[in-house]
Amino acid sequence: MIFKDLLGELDQSMYSKYTSVRQGINPVDRDFLSWNNNSQIFVVAQYGFFSKIITKFLLDAYLVTVNAGWKAVSEELVQNISEELDIVEGDECHSESALPHYVLLRQGIQEALGIDIAEASPGAATRRFINDTLEAVNDLRAPYVSGCVFALENSATPELQMVSGWVETVHERAKVAVSRKVQHFFHSHISEIEILHQERLKTACANYVKTQEQGALFKEGFERVMAIMDCWWEGLAQEALAS
Ligand SMILES: [Fe+2]
Repeated sequence: MIFKDLLGELDQSMYSKYTSVRQGINPVDRDFLSWNNNSQIFVVAQYGFFSKIITKFLLDAYLVTVNAGWKAVSEELVQNISEELDIVEGDECHSESALPHYVLLRQGIQEALGIDIAEASPGAATRRFINDTLEAVNDLRAPYVSGCVFALENSATPELQMVSGWVETVHERAKVAVSRKVQHFFHSHISEIEILHQERLKTACANYVKTQEQGALFKEGFERVMAIMDCWWEGLAQEALAS
């Protein structure tokens, strides 16, 4: 099993087998512009739950990989969590105003639109997404859990590009400028942070995913999370129309 080839195969399958990260095909992206404000804001607020809970997904994956002795992977997950929370040690750019990225998103939306996304309740699709993903990253097999996290990180950039477009649309309709905090949230993740998460995770996993069986489990975890995400977006599109 050549891990690099497996990563390439999974990346390709993300665009051919699943709808989550495909512009115009993701069920929310497909219809977003035709929705009313309530439906659009509903989806943006539901996305906020993902931004909020990503560190919990990563922490649970950390506990599995550290137990397996997959040191490079567990260290990468700690680094990733620290970046999401903006508590990176020795970071030159670290300032007094550093905030967890979810808080940046929450405050920025509140400042521009006067909406606190934290006041929203997770809908049925989001609750299922959270529960299913937590179950996946708590599987006891480190290769499977690493594949789950790889799906989260590999899909992050195209997903954030779509979400950023939706957030811009909501602001345009409200005739307000996107706040600097929200601009920073999307720009930093799309242009730098998610690229690093993905590359560092690939490098770390390459040290441990060696056998045919480990490769198969890594793939299984990846596919499980992609299927969970497809189900989430499908559910969100239906709930948005009803909101
Ligand atoms: Fe990430």
